[in-house]
Amino acid sequence: MGETVLVTGCAGFIALHTIMQLNKDGFQIIGVDRKQKPANFLGKYYQIDITSPEIVRIFKENSIDYVIHLAALPSVSESIKNPQADCMDNYYATVNICYFSKLYGVKKIIFSSTAAVYAKPRYLPVDEEHPIDFISPYAITKGASENFIKYSGIDYIIFRYSNVYGYGQDSNGEAGVVAKFFDQMSHNKNIKIYGTGEQTRDFISVVDVAAVNVLALKCNVKNEIINVSTNRKTSIKELYWVIKQVLNYNKEPIYTFARPGDIEHSILDNTKLLNLLNYTPFVLLKDGILDMKDKNDILGGLVG
Ligand SMILES: NC(=O)c1ccc[n+]([C@@H]2O[C@H](COP(=O)([O-])OP(=O)(O)OC[C@H]3O[C@@H](n4cnc5c(N)ncnc54)[C@H](O)[C@@H]3O)[C@@H](O)[C@H]2O)c1
Repeated sequence: MGETVLVTGCAGFIALHTIMQLNKDGFQIIGVDRKQKPANFLGKYYQIDITSPEIVRIFKENSIDYVIHLAALPSVSESIKNPQADCMDNYYATVNICYFSKLYGVKKIIFSSTAAVYAKPRYLPVDEEHPIDFISPYAITKGASENFIKYSGIDYIIFRYSNVYGYGQDSNGEAGVVAKFFDQMSHNKNIKIYGTGEQTRDFISVVDVAAVNVLALKCNVKNEIINVSTNRKTSIKELYWVIKQVLNYNKEPIYTFARPGDIEHSILDNTKLLNLLNYTPFVLLKDGILDMKDKNDILGGLVG
């Protein structure tokens, strides 16, 4: 029997792909999410809010080797509207998970942090030595969670993901721009581009992110903060063109005012990922979008 991994936020987008990879690699999977169990969930499922002390049950009933902590409210704009919720679901939940992980002898915790902790980059590409700064409650709760994990005494790897995209991402709310454009173009709706469209992002496929999450359990690396990114910049205009081609969309985008507070350019240096985990993200943006289209055609919209 393989080692046992607790995946928090296991009904979410990145978890869906991470769990498929864990399953392929022979890990025993325990999932926790406050949402209902997704269809075909691969493992033992607990429908519990992880801010609750009730999570002790998961640790008592299972011998957990590793935790991949993905549960969070991932929206920057929602965090501005409701910082209390972010504080609970992102920070307090992390404290709760760390507390019981330490108590029950978890070997390593893998944490999903974010490029948002770099705020407005002072240089590009942004490496892990870049100063941390916060321009949203979301980033604050992620930064505070990173600190608590470091303090907790459990071995850890903190991953700072760039912009993750792929099949299964929720296109509502303040979802990633890829999910939004993909959904709108699939339904032949108009596309709105804020500002010039020249602003750039570092889009990484969830397939690469899932592979890295699992690799983190299999390697000896510990107590490191590592960017998970492609180190490639794509402008919003380019993104529009790639999705347009894949979906045979033929409307012109509508340009509108730049949103105040939007970061102009964000690219993360991934040298440390290569040096420590020997991993280079391999999914090219066009292939990642094609994969979304294929899965959407076969499996339909959102799962989970
Ligand atoms: N998607 C991205 O581009 C991106 C970028 C950087 C970091 N991240 C981080 O990666 C992680 C996963 O992101 P995602 O895009 O898969 O998000 P998601 O919203 O698809 O999944 C998060 C899951 O966590 C669950 N959850 C939240 N609070 C909970 C609680 N208190 N108790 C139980 N379950 C709870 C939700 O129900 C949801 O199923 C998050 O921590 C996010 O901050 C995501």
